[in-house]
Amino acid sequence: MPYLSEEELSKIVSKVASDINVEYAGKCPLFVVVLNGAFVFGSDLIKKVTVDCEVSFLRVSSYRGTASTGEVKEMMPVGTDVNGRDVILVEDIVDTGRTMGDIKRKMAEAGANSVKICTLLFKPEAFQGNYKVDLVGTEIPDRFVVGYGLDYDGLGRNLPSLYQIKPKL
Ligand code: IMP
Ligand code: MG
Repeated sequence: MPYLSEEELSKIVSKVASDINVEYAGKCPLFVVVLNGAFVFGSDLIKKVTVDCEVSFLRVSSYRGTASTGEVKEMMPVGTDVNGRDVILVEDIVDTGRTMGDIKRKMAEAGANSVKICTLLFKPEAFQGNYKVDLVGTEIPDRFVVGYGLDYDGLGRNLPSLYQIKPKL
């Protein structure tokens, strides 16, 4: 049984997109999709966004298995100049919040006019950040999930629905 089915995910993505369409009316935001995990969400989201926008990608790596290493490595920088732009960071999941905190700070340092975080999933019980997670698809409990772009040690990104990994008994 999926934790969130394709249909449920689609409804969640539509809601996030319509919030963006209202909030960014008349602006031309720059979506920065955080690879690898957010590529499926980012692709579905962008198709439902109706305001003029640009899309770029940033690749970071911080996870091994199901536990955070606490290390955020920038593997592929944003190819578009973020100076003066209204940046929307697109992420699959905000867990401890270290990854997004780090990227948000870097975007502000690079001169972005505004930086908002848009995440499909948010684990409030695990969050340790001192910043606002602006656009949240849905909150989930502190359990590891896989599918819809999210992986477990590289596998499972291709699953169209989202699944919770059962803890070891
Ligand atoms: P944070 O820095 O602890 O917020 O971790 C965020 C990153 O860890 C996300 O971009 C994911 O790549 C990964 N991550 C955190 N929780 C999960 C999960 O439940 N499933 C898959 N990846 C996860
Ligand atoms: Mg990620």
